[in-house]
Amino acid sequence: MTGLLKRLGIELPIIQAPMAGTSTPAMAAAVSNAGALGSIGVGAANAASARGMIESLAGLTNKPFNVNVFTHRPAKADPLRELAWLEALKPEFERFGAEPPTAIGQIYTSFVTDEAMLELFLETRPAVVSFHFGLPSPEAIARLKAAGILLFSSATNLDEAEKAVAAGVDAIVAQGYEAGGHRGVFDPAGPDSQLGVTALTRLLVSRVSVPVIAAGGIMDGAGIAAMLDLGAAAAQLGTAFIACPESSADQYHRDALFSPAATATEMTALISGRPARCLHNAFTTLKDGALKGLEAPDYPIAYDAGKALAAAARAKGEGGFGAQWAGQGAPLARAMPAADLVRTLVAELQAARGGKEADR
Ligand SMILES: Cc1cc2nc3c(=O)[nH]c(=O)nc-3n(C[C@H](O)[C@H](O)[C@H](O)COP(=O)(O)O)c2cc1C
Repeated sequence: MTGLLKRLGIELPIIQAPMAGTSTPAMAAAVSNAGALGSIGVGAANAASARGMIESLAGLTNKPFNVNVFTHRPAKADPLRELAWLEALKPEFERFGAEPPTAIGQIYTSFVTDEAMLELFLETRPAVVSFHFGLPSPEAIARLKAAGILLFSSATNLDEAEKAVAAGVDAIVAQGYEAGGHRGVFDPAGPDSQLGVTALTRLLVSRVSVPVIAAGGIMDGAGIAAMLDLGAAAAQLGTAFIACPESSADQYHRDALFSPAATATEMTALISGRPARCLHNAFTTLKDGALKGLEAPDYPIAYDAGKALAAAARAKGEGGFGAQWAGQGAPLARAMPAADLVRTLVAELQAARGGKEADR
């Protein structure tokens, strides 16, 4: 057992990734009850609905779990850019007999300004709170730590990891470029180092003083074993859990995961305004069509339009405009209950660990 697992009070070096809109309290509870760390993502929720999710999860398990928030810099409105975006999307809406919204805005609040969410965490005290897209204020970090909550932060390069360690986080989620969903980059306007999970994990393990959790493209026990061999304290898997019955992914997302689209994931900022890895679908192809050459409105303002288009298309039976986030390991996805998946991962991890050099 590594120091991190001991501090967490869990047996297995496996973390089910928080996935706003896809992970659920039932999924996180099944994973935590199986001895790994389950997570829920409340980044797109307000404090009232986050309370409902935390209470429902706490009612399903006595084991530790992780609650994840988005810590992006609040969006800067740019009415002209937003109008141009909606104008460009108009023909896409019209294909489904709909009109684009007349205005788009910030559909959710960053944790960096969400006092009610902070108070909720201090009251409910989940074992872990994790940050994606940056860090909250030193005061918020100090209060969460004083409440005995362990803190994780995503990092996509050494600089972000060093900032997170200096701020006092307890572990770094090393998010490789392979990973499904949004890149955790602190500054989406800056250059992206695009480090793969192997180089990033190794770099952070050798340079930072806190445990490193590897994330990105890890789909089975052999992948977890490889990350542990690199010095990671645990592996965080997102895409591997999308097809579990406990997931709230819609049928279109599930079907796409088991289609040829799974072999061609793409990094796109068109859906939400921030780079995210998605299955190749009708929305990602707009980069060569309606949205060619245009700059997306700030995150999450663009997501307001993206979600409206997905809903208009879905109402007419076209599911390919959804935010079908998935990592590069998507073709290795399996559909099974979350607890069975954890047990399968453990068996595979043991088999990988027991494998002899001579067998290679
Ligand atoms: C559908 C989906 C939603 C995600 N949502 C979040 C989220 O809300 N918060 C977060 O920190 N990471 C989120 N991620 C990223 C994961 O934390 C993790 O970095 C990623 O899943 C690892 O790569 P993998 O998908 O290849 O396993 C999401 C990933 C996916 C696939």
